[in-house]
Amino acid sequence: MYIIQSSKMVITMHKIDLSENGRIATLMVDSTAPVKFHAIWLRDNAWDSETRAPGNGQRLIALRDIPNDIHIEVAKIEDQTVTLTFQPENKTVEYDIDWLVAHSYDCAEKCASGWVSPDIETWDAGLMNAVPVADFAEIQNNPTGLRDWLRKVARYGFGKLIGGPIEDQSLMKVVDMFGYTRETNYGMFFEVRTEVNPTNLAYTGLGLQAHTDNPYRDPVPSIQVLYCLESSAAGGENMVVDGFRAAERLREENPEWFDVLSKYCARFEYAGEKGVVLRSRRPMIELSPDGELIGIRFNNRSTAAITDVPFKDMATYYDAYRRLGEIIDETAMEVTFRLNPGECFIVDNTRVLHARKAYSGAGTRWLQGCYADKDGLLSTLASLEAQNQEVAA
Ligand code: FE2
Repeated sequence: MYIIQSSKMVITMHKIDLSENGRIATLMVDSTAPVKFHAIWLRDNAWDSETRAPGNGQRLIALRDIPNDIHIEVAKIEDQTVTLTFQPENKTVEYDIDWLVAHSYDCAEKCASGWVSPDIETWDAGLMNAVPVADFAEIQNNPTGLRDWLRKVARYGFGKLIGGPIEDQSLMKVVDMFGYTRETNYGMFFEVRTEVNPTNLAYTGLGLQAHTDNPYRDPVPSIQVLYCLESSAAGGENMVVDGFRAAERLREENPEWFDVLSKYCARFEYAGEKGVVLRSRRPMIELSPDGELIGIRFNNRSTAAITDVPFKDMATYYDAYRRLGEIIDETAMEVTFRLNPGECFIVDNTRVLHARKAYSGAGTRWLQGCYADKDGLLSTLASLEAQNQEVAA
């Protein structure tokens, strides 16, 4: 064990260094670049039983409980554990080095607008040969198989299941594997097939431009499942397009176009049935405050009059909107597949657009669709990942 006082270096495999005033700790793990942490951040993220509830991990203190002049007086490092003593609380806390490294925030500023998380991978038609697919029965009662499939769905925003039951409402069993359905004015689920008096163009045999669903909702449904029960009509193939890749391409071609679609809100509306007037005001390309690409809303059918773009930028906005649509329409961007009875696909509706090619009136085509939310899916995935780590340990 090595013990240091402020601003003295520890000599071991791992090193920790304190600034003169104890307000900053610099950790060097093996030979990697040093990462700095603020004393206030470390204290706020302590995992001792007085700071976090042992059962559920929820924080028991508020920031007001931490003195404003918090600093580290003593730092010790041994094997995989960093031990810090904070003053004026005279409180000693242990940290796992791997946890600290995984939660480091000492990185170069992500200044390029439109960056994407390292947890995802954008794609184009090249994904056609590597569509994330799994067998319904193989993952339904198999946590490892489910984890592997959900991992791909999270990474690509899209996945397919085959070999499922050809029974009414089977799509609910799909959602049960990872989360909860989101009920809307369309119900817990909705039928997608030709209707004589359609209230929505999705129920006719027309082809549809690739779109995200329900951009007029706030919040938007973040998962959609479409499940095939009958498919004897010619045509009607499904296709998906990665909206994040389309946005990346737009940015590469013309940063100003990317900028106007992310800076200004579009408006979306659906009022196609009695008693329903859904409206939202959100950008077509959504960024987090630090520039991460986090959402796409694109739906020609439900785009309302756009009134939040200044007059001086409206012509540019329409150029950008047109070009984004052209990119989305490119064959090189689409992954096309046919859904047979007992098969379904799932999309991250905040990212991946879906479409259907026109199909003939002869024969039948019956799909059922429903919405769910991505937080539930990611929660199930994270939980399965954690179980796997426990088994490995
Ligand atoms: Fe749709």
